Amino acid sequence: MQLKNRIAIVTGAGQGIGAAVAMAYAREGAKVAVIDMNSAAAQEVANGINAAGGTALAVACNVALRAQVDAMAAQVTQAWGRVDILVNNAGITRTAMLHKMTQDQWQDVLAVHLSGSFNCLQAVVGGMMERRYGRIIFVTSAAGVLGTIGQINYSAAKAGVLGMTKSAAKELARYNITANAIAPGAATPMTETIRTDERFKDKYLDRIPLGRWAEPQEIAPVFLFFASDASSYVTGQIVAADGGMTIH
Ligand SMILES: NC(=O)c1ccc[n+]([C@@H]2O[C@H](COP(=O)([O-])OP(=O)(O)OC[C@H]3O[C@@H](n4cnc5c(N)ncnc54)[C@H](O)[C@@H]3O)[C@@H](O)[C@H]2O)c1
Repeated sequence: MQLKNRIAIVTGAGQGIGAAVAMAYAREGAKVAVIDMNSAAAQEVANGINAAGGTALAVACNVALRAQVDAMAAQVTQAWGRVDILVNNAGITRTAMLHKMTQDQWQDVLAVHLSGSFNCLQAVVGGMMERRYGRIIFVTSAAGVLGTIGQINYSAAKAGVLGMTKSAAKELARYNITANAIAPGAATPMTETIRTDERFKDKYLDRIPLGRWAEPQEIAPVFLFFASDASSYVTGQIVAADGGMTIH
């Protein structure tokens, strides 16, 4: 088991990629805190993990709200003593062309991806520094690397996540804490419109050399690599698990 006795926090784990990552970590022996603002979804994923013989705790938390993040980190630490692995996966889209984008659409996306990732990082990093061990995994996107139409908020936030990954990697390396980012491409509720709407479907698939969307379960092994000791000498890197969409 690659994560035996490790304690992991996975945000946005109520569905999609986060749920697949939480389940994969639990199968590898980690105790997993399943974090989501949708408490029923988080509970369902945690119940599934516990029923399969793993160990999971569901915590309802909006990562954009610092007080909720601090309470969540305190609850996990109280239950299991520490946090070894943080996956900053929670995310939203608020799609609009830039000349029509509202302040709320702009702010909401930055609040979840940028402030949410920062809030969770800052809430757990002190303990990791003390113990000289940590694995931080950020989630970015092809949108943050290439830009995208109708998502200037999301692209800016995901590009910001790349900067956060590199700064965290440089600042935390001396504490034996690694920070890496994954740019996934998977069939989840978040991508439903571009996968099913006739206006976007074929255009998108044409840009994926492997010619299909991934299942979240195919993305989870990359998250496992960055959480495990197999990646002990890898930090500040970005891996695109996107079927080749960002080959350039
Ligand atoms: N699916 C893809 O192809 C794709 C591509 C690139 C990047 N991503 C990124 O991967 C991550 C996961 O995406 P997904 O496709 O699984 O999305 P999803 O919409 O299926 O799941 C996202 C989860 O995050 C939760 N969430 C949203 N805002 C939250 C908040 N403020 N606090 C706590 N939880 C919150 C939601 O309730 C949901 O359960 C996101 O960061 C997303 O931007 C996904």
